[in-house]
Amino acid sequence: MAVETPQVSVAGASPSTNPLDAFRIAIARELARITNLNVGFIFAALDRSSTFDKGDLVLAVPRLRIKSADLTPTAQAENLASQFRVENCPLVKQPIADGISLQFYMNPAALPGILLPFVLQHGNDYGSDRAIGLRKPAASSADNSTGNIDEDDANRKTVIVEFSSPNIAKEFHFGHLRSTIIGAFLANLYEICGHRVIRMNYLGDWGRQFGLLASGWEKYGDEAAFDRDPIRHLFEIYVKISADFKPEDVAYKEAKARGEDTSVHETQGLLGASKAYFKRMEDGDPDALALWERFRALSIQRYEATYARLNIRFTDYSGESKVRKETIARVLQVLEDRGIAEPDGGALIVDFAKHGKKKVATAILRNRNGTSNYLLRDLGAAVQRHDDYTFDEMVYVVMSEQEAHLKWLFLTMELMGEPYTALSKKMKHISFGKVRGMSTRRGTVVFLDDVVNDVTDFMHEQMRGNATKYSEVADPAQTAEALAVSAIMVQDMLGKRANNYSFDLQRMTSFEGDTGPYLQYAHARLCSISRKAGFTRDDLLATPSDFNLLLADSSYACDLLRVVARYPDMVRQAMKTLEPTTILTYLFALAHTLSSSYDHLRVVNPPEGPSMSRARAALYGSARQTLHNGMVLLGLTPVDRM
Ligand code: ARG
Repeated sequence: MAVETPQVSVAGASPSTNPLDAFRIAIARELARITNLNVGFIFAALDRSSTFDKGDLVLAVPRLRIKSADLTPTAQAENLASQFRVENCPLVKQPIADGISLQFYMNPAALPGILLPFVLQHGNDYGSDRAIGLRKPAASSADNSTGNIDEDDANRKTVIVEFSSPNIAKEFHFGHLRSTIIGAFLANLYEICGHRVIRMNYLGDWGRQFGLLASGWEKYGDEAAFDRDPIRHLFEIYVKISADFKPEDVAYKEAKARGEDTSVHETQGLLGASKAYFKRMEDGDPDALALWERFRALSIQRYEATYARLNIRFTDYSGESKVRKETIARVLQVLEDRGIAEPDGGALIVDFAKHGKKKVATAILRNRNGTSNYLLRDLGAAVQRHDDYTFDEMVYVVMSEQEAHLKWLFLTMELMGEPYTALSKKMKHISFGKVRGMSTRRGTVVFLDDVVNDVTDFMHEQMRGNATKYSEVADPAQTAEALAVSAIMVQDMLGKRANNYSFDLQRMTSFEGDTGPYLQYAHARLCSISRKAGFTRDDLLATPSDFNLLLADSSYACDLLRVVARYPDMVRQAMKTLEPTTILTYLFALAHTLSSSYDHLRVVNPPEGPSMSRARAALYGSARQTLHNGMVLLGLTPVDRM
């Protein structure tokens, strides 16, 4: 038996992908019978409880806005609780009035038979709305005034998630690490909610620093070193040439601060050379571009290999260099025609204060020698991405330090008028805080590969600490890497995005506490249980109605079922918060509930006999599936053994 598909269709309800919605609809129907209110209206008022001791679902009675002269909300809650007939709604127990709220607990004698087959059948799609094929078309019904929802296509959006976006020849710092982790999660999230996702890497591959790098290459470039490790070699060159440039740069900035004429500085020395070189690049000089193109192509090759270690693939390696000149020209035209941009000593700027925007200062769009800058390229990029993908939404996963830049970007687009104003409304900055001390025993790390390697080595040592266990691991090196990647990611996603955190090798690689290895361990343990139990999926699905009888009496089984049932709701919640911690916190709660259950729910040869073994295997199988799906959503690769 699968979840009974209710005959009513209710706005926002998706009982074919979220079993809790089936419970909500059943409750709403019974309350509609009592109050004569609309089912959809009641449905929308049924919240998830904050903690399980307050029930599974909670209804704050004032939300029903029942007009009653003589009944207080508390009395109304009591009234509703006593009039509620569980015969009409066997999925839940008799509701409990608690102040102005009604608490609903799922009926442990009905839940297993519905939930377990549901989870096992949906498999990797449990919690996802991508399983559109599994949805039945909503049946129309008279008692539904909110109208039918055929959400499947109407709600399917094209979403660009721009993330990671490192700068060629520069370090891969914490900002890029966090953007990579959070961005990959968001891309997965939009995808499982049924949207079309473009994973875009917007490389820092353009700008005057490539002029400087060209000078550096001339002075320090080494073909062999470049072939061996292009990313590292380019970085080394950049560090050296930047050091050479330093005194000149200081003198230039001081002169500028004193208000002197700096045109001499700008045409001489390394500054002059790099400006001139970048100008050649912007003018399309093939010789200047050939060198840069090599730098870019080889760097991307390396990046791809590293991202693969994190199980990330980009749809589009875009970058500042890929913004077409025509698009930039088009943007400039609008900015000038509509009087948004103005000249300022040869450069082109926007003065936001002049356009009725308080607080924000001026932003430069185009440099004095006519080359584009970061902001102008971003304006062009946004327009171009819309030309290319007609996105409905675009998220920029960028560290909080660039808050002002992105604000200027959105603001300028808004000022540009239609269709750009409309575009600006579709763009969103997903910001995040800092990582303190992102360094390992080898010193400050500058590349993503180093981070993964160092944590892997450390993890490997931790594993060696337990010799017996270690000898059982088939491929310790590979397991160490999988655990290390989880350790890094989980540490990053533990708190809210805006929080800062400290990079703590010891803590993140521990098997205890809320860590990546702990989650992996929980998953591997469930895999081992199902291997030992030895049932096939078909075995488990054979007579699911037995599960009700077999599992109803155990509070441990019931607790687990209640947590598992929440997962699709948590995915929905994550779409609102856009916070990885929404999912991660849930997964830790699941893992904790699991670990306190094992002693009480024996799967292999339980004294109660083979059908109990099967029921518990189905229970743990569903928990494993849920944990697995949540981990994959976060971007982790669950391991089967360790
Ligand atoms: N490459 C930039 C940096 O490392 C981040 C890019 C952010 N995205 C954007 N569209 N500006 O600082």
